[in-house]
Amino acid sequence: MTQEMIEQAKAVLRRNDRGSYTVPTHGLYPFQWNWDSALSALGFAHFDEARAWTEIETLLAHQWEDGMVPHIIFHELDDGYFPGPDVWSTGRKVPTSGITQPPVAGFAARRIFDRAEDKALAAEKARALLPRIHAWHQWFFANRDPQGTGLVAIIHPWESGRDNSVDWDAAFERVPTDGVLPFTRRDTSHANPAHRPTDEQYKRYIWLVQKFRSLGWDNSKLHDASPFQIVDPGFNAILIRSCADLADLADTLGETTIAAQSRALADKGIAAMESLWSDAQGQYLCHDRVVDALVESPSIGGILAAFAPIPQNRAKAISARISVLAENCTFLVPSHDPTAPEFDGLRYWRGPVWLIVNYMISDGLEHCGETAMADRINTDCLRLIEKSGFAEYYDPITAEPCGGDQFTWTAAMVIEILKTHEVAA
Ligand code: GLC
Repeated sequence: MTQEMIEQAKAVLRRNDRGSYTVPTHGLYPFQWNWDSALSALGFAHFDEARAWTEIETLLAHQWEDGMVPHIIFHELDDGYFPGPDVWSTGRKVPTSGITQPPVAGFAARRIFDRAEDKALAAEKARALLPRIHAWHQWFFANRDPQGTGLVAIIHPWESGRDNSVDWDAAFERVPTDGVLPFTRRDTSHANPAHRPTDEQYKRYIWLVQKFRSLGWDNSKLHDASPFQIVDPGFNAILIRSCADLADLADTLGETTIAAQSRALADKGIAAMESLWSDAQGQYLCHDRVVDALVESPSIGGILAAFAPIPQNRAKAISARISVLAENCTFLVPSHDPTAPEFDGLRYWRGPVWLIVNYMISDGLEHCGETAMADRINTDCLRLIEKSGFAEYYDPITAEPCGGDQFTWTAAMVIEILKTHEVAA
């Protein structure tokens, strides 16, 4: 059973492999996506280490001069996706989008390095990647934390990776829709519209793109000019974890300056995360920087925070919080609290379960000794695969497969979980 599932997952990765990068899935997402690639590399690493390194190398090869690593790289033209390169208009030789995504590459590089059988290859690849990933981390703090708080803001919901989360609803009200040029969505012709964001949300996504484009994609201006500035605990946890992991990797490779700088960023971030903790919700919350207030939205962003080396008592509380969520769903971890009025079990990031997020939460909990909950989450991942295949995401109550199918990072997570854990599926 286990071996069969691994073989099926490998077949998904191979199907979506375009040689030096993978697409998230055929049709719906025909390019390279940033955090998809970093997490997918973890899957490749179990059967082709060189290919895993190539995935991250290709991603970093398209880093901007200022340090940003874009969220999409449009390697080959494909008009099946909107918004394409003409809308972003970032002026890159190989076109890219102009925003970023959760910086999980530092974590992935360290993990692949630690497990590598080909140590020489791993050292060579990691040494080359190290300064690039570090530059990306520094870019975040320079451009998205202008006041030096220790935490960074996202300026577009797509940067979070949780595109239409309830977390953005209130802040999104401030994003206008006037002046948005007419467009045709392509996602709703590949996937069920009931599983996707609404047209109203799409208009606001595009308004922000047009705004940033009008500022010439100059990152020194975008943060302050954006009406949308959110400090997302999940996003920051990924950045902090990657800084901490990069520090360890740099130490191993004798790169002491990068190690010290990375560790300082991680430590400052962890201390600052406390400002996002809510006793009332039993989890972390987003902070809306424009109005300087916490966002009272019980979403998975505040649970994903467990991926960072947070204090033990916080990890324990998050584990307890997940137990409460479990009382109202069949499969952990729903991306929004099923008892909240905005919960929608089918619609993207407003309720469904995503395996990549589950993996990061469970990894963090395991590190903090919350192993029973970590195991439970991993078990639920495999139950979902058995019932519904390698979908993009799943209804947490019925397990209905949603969005695209034959999904790369879902398959990668299955290989990763099965190869590194004893899981009772
Ligand atoms: C969606 C997801 C995002 C992901 C992308 C490609 O936009 O919300 O997190 O990176 O699809 O899979």
